[in-house]
Amino acid sequence: MEQQFFTSTLTEKERDTENILRPKVFEDYVGQDKVKENMRIYIKAALARNESLDHVLLYGPPGLGKTTLAHIIANEMGVPITVTSGSAIPGKFDLSAILSKLKPNEVLFIDEIHRLNSSLEEILYPAMEDYRLDFVVGKGPSATSVNIKLEKFTLIGATTKAGNLAAPLRDRFGMQMRLVPYTPDQLKLIVLKSAKKLGTQIDDAAAYEIARRSRGTPRIANRLLKRVRDFAEVFGDGHVTTDVTLHAMSVIEVDELGLDAVDKNILTTIIDKFSGGPVGLDTLASATGEDTATIEDVYEPYLLQLGFIARTPRGRVCMPNAYKHLGKKLSKERMEMLSIYADSADNDEDE
Ligand SMILES: Nc1ncnc2c1ncn2[C@@H]1O[C@H](COP(=O)(O)OP(=O)(O)O)[C@@H](O)[C@H]1O
Ligand SMILES: [Mg+2]
Repeated sequence: MEQQFFTSTLTEKERDTENILRPKVFEDYVGQDKVKENMRIYIKAALARNESLDHVLLYGPPGLGKTTLAHIIANEMGVPITVTSGSAIPGKFDLSAILSKLKPNEVLFIDEIHRLNSSLEEILYPAMEDYRLDFVVGKGPSATSVNIKLEKFTLIGATTKAGNLAAPLRDRFGMQMRLVPYTPDQLKLIVLKSAKKLGTQIDDAAAYEIARRSRGTPRIANRLLKRVRDFAEVFGDGHVTTDVTLHAMSVIEVDELGLDAVDKNILTTIIDKFSGGPVGLDTLASATGEDTATIEDVYEPYLLQLGFIARTPRGRVCMPNAYKHLGKKLSKERMEMLSIYADSADNDEDE
C-alpha cells in the first residue's frame, strides 16, 4: 500500500484541510512554549514601539508548525503576510518586485529559504539590514544601479535544513527559533482540537493512541486522525473509539511507535542483508527500493530520534532497541560492538 502519512509534500485537498486545522492565535498553538514565550515578548515590544518585528528564522523538521507560526506572528502583529518559497523566486527582478510591494511592517514569509538562489542574497542583505534595494543591472557602460527605499518589513524564513543556509544570511535574522518534536500529550491535545474542528467525536484514549503514533509531528497526527475518522464512518457511527483506532492502524500498518512498513523495511534490510551495518545511504536506498532523499529526510530522522539507528562514518547501523522492537536476535559480539555508538545515537543534529 502506498504510504503517505510521513511525507512533507501536500496534495491540493490536504492543503485545504490544513488551513482549516491551522491555529490562528498563540492560545491555540499547542506546545513550543519557549518559542511562544519569546515571540510574545518581542511582538509586544515591537507593537509598543510601533515598529516592524525583527527578522525571524524558524527551523526544524517538516510538519512541526513553522508555516502556522509565521501566520500567527503576522496575525498577532496585525499586519498582512506575503507567502512565497525559496524555490519559487527565480531571479533578482522577481525578488525585487516582491520586496517593493510590501506594506509597512508587513511579514514576508519565505518557506524553504535554504533553496533560495544564492545570487539573490546580494539583494536580500541590504533589504533586510537597511530596507533598501541596492544593486546593479547589466554590465559595462550600459550598467545602471538600482537604489530604492523599501518599507520596513519582517522577513520570516522557514527551513528544515538550517545547516544549508549561508552563514551571512543566517546571521541577519535577529531571532532564530528552533521547533522541537511534540510530546504524546501535546499531540493528543492537537488531535482533540482538530477532531472538534472537523466535527468528529473522539474518545480521550483514542486520541492518545493516535498521538503516540504521530512521530512527534502535528501534521502526521492530523493525517492519522483523518484516516481513522474514515474508518469510524465506514465501520460505525463516526464516533472514534480506541477499537476503531487500533483497527485502522493495523490496516494502514502503523505500529504503536508510529513506524510503518517502510521504516520496518529499512531496519530489517540493515539487519538481515547487511548484518546490522554499517551500510552506506546509497547502498541502503537501492536495497530497499527507496530513494536516498526520502530515507534521509522522511524516515531517518525519527529512527535516529528513537535511537533505532546510528550514523557512523562508514554508514548506518541498527542499534539494540531496533532489534528488540522487531523481535530480532542480537549476538553478544554485535552488542559489544554497538556499544561504542550508543553515545552518538541521539545527538546527531543538522546544525
Ligand atoms: N503547535 C501546533 N498546535 C496545533 N496544530 C499545529 C501546531 N503545529 C502544527 N500544527 C498543525 O500541523 C499542520 C502542519 O503544520 P505546518 O505549520 O504546516 O508545519 P511546517 O510548516 O513546519 O511543515 C497544520 O495543519 C497545523 O495546523
Ligand atoms: Mg510549512
